[in-house]
Amino acid sequence: MCGIVGVTGTNQSVSILIEGLERLEYRGYDSAGIYVNDQSGNDYLVKRVGRIVNLKNAITPEISGSTGIGHTRWATHGVPSETNAHPHFSNDERFYLVHNGVIENFKQLKEEYLSGVEFKSDTDTEVIVQLIDRFVVEYNMDTQAAFLKVLRLVSDDSSYAFVLMDRETPDTLFVAKNKSPLLVGVGDGFNLVASDAVAMLKQTHTFMEIQDQEIVVVKPAEILITDFDGNEMKRDTFQVEMDASAADKGTYPFYMLKEVDEQPAVMRKIVQNYLNEDGDPVVDSQLLESIKEADRIYIIGAGTSYHAGLVGAKMFEQLTNIPTEVHISSEFAYEQPIMSKKPFFIFLTQSGETADSREVLVNVKKQGWPSLTITNVPKSTLSREADYTMLLHAGPEIAVASTKAYTAQVAVEAVLAKAIGEYLKHPRAAEFDLKHQLGLVAVGMQALVDSKEKLESVASRYLSKPRNAFYIGRGTDWSVALESALKLKEISYVQAEGFASGELKHGTIALIESQTPVIGIITQDRTAGLTRSNLQEVISRGASVITIVTKHLAQTDDTIVLPDVDPLLTPLLSVVPAQLLAYYTSLGKGLDVDKPRNLAKSVTVQ
Ligand code: F6R
Repeated sequence: MCGIVGVTGTNQSVSILIEGLERLEYRGYDSAGIYVNDQSGNDYLVKRVGRIVNLKNAITPEISGSTGIGHTRWATHGVPSETNAHPHFSNDERFYLVHNGVIENFKQLKEEYLSGVEFKSDTDTEVIVQLIDRFVVEYNMDTQAAFLKVLRLVSDDSSYAFVLMDRETPDTLFVAKNKSPLLVGVGDGFNLVASDAVAMLKQTHTFMEIQDQEIVVVKPAEILITDFDGNEMKRDTFQVEMDASAADKGTYPFYMLKEVDEQPAVMRKIVQNYLNEDGDPVVDSQLLESIKEADRIYIIGAGTSYHAGLVGAKMFEQLTNIPTEVHISSEFAYEQPIMSKKPFFIFLTQSGETADSREVLVNVKKQGWPSLTITNVPKSTLSREADYTMLLHAGPEIAVASTKAYTAQVAVEAVLAKAIGEYLKHPRAAEFDLKHQLGLVAVGMQALVDSKEKLESVASRYLSKPRNAFYIGRGTDWSVALESALKLKEISYVQAEGFASGELKHGTIALIESQTPVIGIITQDRTAGLTRSNLQEVISRGASVITIVTKHLAQTDDTIVLPDVDPLLTPLLSVVPAQLLAYYTSLGKGLDVDKPRNLAKSVTVQ
């Protein structure tokens, strides 16, 4: 949800900014822009609507500089246009600003301090840069003091990551954040800032965290962090050992396909990281002790992460006997149900930055309840702010549609459920041979990702034309139906619904007409027959039925047969064909699989 990058101290700044933005493009792709200054009196501002490639094509050889900032936008205030694209600048063209987040009180600030000022854009960001300029020019404040004054005026419910440049000190980046992610990258004679480490990995593996309510002044050979009271803050650096190529597409046409293919390896990585030689879970004992005290587990997530929570809840209940509820974060934040006496919260979030989920975490902390974040991104906001973190070890997920993070979330939930269950001496947990089962899952996933040709032909035969489609199933299969439908709709724009198959006849069956695709997921012994009957009901009404069925329940005319694994883990397999059906439907329509319209990967506004 907007990506920002800044660099100072190298004459390669233009290419560093562009490459950084390319790596951040998953955060939004409505427009992009850079501002660079060469410290010899020349500076350049270039903005383009649409993808980074449009910006890249607009860069001419004379555009260079040693310090600069860049931005890729997911529009909130103001339509995607060149004037609304960042960097925004003050009317005297002294200050340039990039911003990720939303300034909730921008209208009040505009009315109170900036009457008479002419605005070029409809954005909240321009208000901030004009305001900084006003405080510097009219009140004679220095830039850092004016920046701080403005930050103090921004309402608490706002979110921001800002990087500001002042033409009068062209080697300096003024940086601050609240709720939105931002990291400093430490170089040798140069320094960087960006929304995500992957944007800086080509230049450095050494990073420094920025916390909310701090101002960071970044120069080529100096990084000075102060809190809002002017106290200098010491900060250790940390290393990110990831190879920059982990975030490359390699020979794949789209990141999504690469990430789908990586799933067997991710399962093995989770085994390596969380299960010892004997197959016992390796999980922080304090975390287990904290969950042991709980009388109820609350799983919180959004979108795909919420769907992974639905699958996980069944594991927690079956392996630990602790009642478990799953909630959509944006709902829970404002409609908290009557709580149990000793809740324990699990936050599922690939990015670790989702604003809706963070809002819940902030409230949970205020109420003194313990929490765990399960995330793919070390040191992300939700990881830092929860009491405990478990990492997904899935490697960077760049495609907007989440695939390997979903299966990693389910697998890590299985590890945790087994660990708690064993800690509580629950017999089903001890019997559950997770290491062996995840081995079977990895092999099964490999077979599924190797059957791409078949899935491509199913997608082209059944899903390329219809406007709508249904995934149906019961219990765990329903949870996967929800995720499968989300994949299909978000990248192929087929209006797809995931439905509890027994519920279909209570109204929704009215939508079934000749050739409506209905995809049945059948992996559970207890409900297989019932879902098959529900499929017969839609066949009788003309639907085109596709089935995804686990081997021991399969019949000769089933479309996709999944290898057998423990019934708790079937979602790890049944979702894979659904991911590939979505992929090939989108591909067949010539859409940009990785960057579906209107979306961004990391949703840092509520
Ligand atoms: C869909 C998708 C989203 C995310 C959701 C939460 O493919 O990726 O639904 O799952 O925006 O994001 P995280 O997991 O980063 O909190």
